[in-house]
Amino acid sequence: MPERVILGASGLSVSPVSFGTWQLSPRFWGEQSKTTLLKAMRTAYDSGINFYDTAEAYGDGYAEEVLGEAIQALPRDEIVIATKVFNHFNPDRTRYPDLSPAHILERCDLSLKRLKTGYIDLYLLHFYDQLTRLAEITETLENLRSQGKIRHYGVSNFNVEQLRAARHFGNYTVLQPPYSLFNTQIEAEILPYCQAQNIGVMVYSPMHKGLLSGKYSGSESFSDFRAFHPDFQSDRFKLLAGKVQQLKPLAEAAGVSIYQLVLAATLAHPSIHVAIAGIKTGAQIIEATAAMRLVIDRKTYWTIRKILDISEQGKPKDASGGVK
Ligand SMILES: NC(=O)c1ccc[n+]([C@@H]2O[C@H](COP(=O)([O-])OP(=O)(O)OC[C@H]3O[C@@H](n4cnc5c(N)ncnc54)[C@H](OP(=O)(O)O)[C@@H]3O)[C@@H](O)[C@H]2O)c1
Repeated sequence: MPERVILGASGLSVSPVSFGTWQLSPRFWGEQSKTTLLKAMRTAYDSGINFYDTAEAYGDGYAEEVLGEAIQALPRDEIVIATKVFNHFNPDRTRYPDLSPAHILERCDLSLKRLKTGYIDLYLLHFYDQLTRLAEITETLENLRSQGKIRHYGVSNFNVEQLRAARHFGNYTVLQPPYSLFNTQIEAEILPYCQAQNIGVMVYSPMHKGLLSGKYSGSESFSDFRAFHPDFQSDRFKLLAGKVQQLKPLAEAAGVSIYQLVLAATLAHPSIHVAIAGIKTGAQIIEATAAMRLVIDRKTYWTIRKILDISEQGKPKDASGGVK
């Protein structure tokens, strides 16, 4: 039987690893082979994944289009598709936030068309829109739900107050926040709130955009958006990549790769139901799928956390000069 978890109050039964399709956004990741990605999406299903994450923002609809093509060969009722709405797209490829009711209705139809499906399992607000009332947004989502165009709805990138406010108006059952063992900010408030409210949590960038995979030494250079990302720059990149390399003995002892060790440790958190792995190839999704079968014991978990702890990095030294 394939591994499944229940995604909080949505009740959706999904694989703990979701196939992330942001990699089909050329402006961030450069051109990827469509053939390779189509095959990887099929490989994902064959190896036990049933959950695919996309957004119309990824390649301005391109990721949805490719996913739509891939799922034609898959049993629709066995897979779960999450997509997101937020942007108004200008002809010159600039964008601005727009979650106004008419715009959501229009964008939802376009997503359905690109995905070549009659319904979206999980429709997420990609970010918080300051200019639209949550009551109006929620009414629109309920309208889409009653028409059968979406089955469930949730949010992404909301802070705890925004999430609380949204839930005052409607049944937002899923949150998609950023989280990795290098970026654990949501542990303070968001994850306890989600646990108490039974909100399904699907975290994005669990490998810190590849940095936690263990394949970088800190001296590599990038032609994609990582060329400008602060964690991939000179000394900081070396420091972080060096910490990841320290996980090697633990990974070897467990008979897995560093990538798998980190992904499994991410999923060990009881408030996190799903990790969305960003995927470029079939080999990458196979490696990720194997990680969801790995159980990390407490001692190993806290050893990993200690090695990857960067909370003190960059803080001024105290009067003792850091010597205790
Ligand atoms: N809601 C939002 O605002 C939001 C934002 C960002 C992402 N997301 C979603 O979350 C997904 C994941 O985020 P992310 O792309 O940042 O994910 P990630 O899993 O942190 O990093 C993905 C990168 O890791 C590398 N990688 C993947 N599998 C690997 C493997 N087996 N071994 C070694 N390296 C591997 C690949 O890049 P290289 O091979 O080039 O290193 C890949 O592009 C996205 O695809 C998207 O669906 C959502």
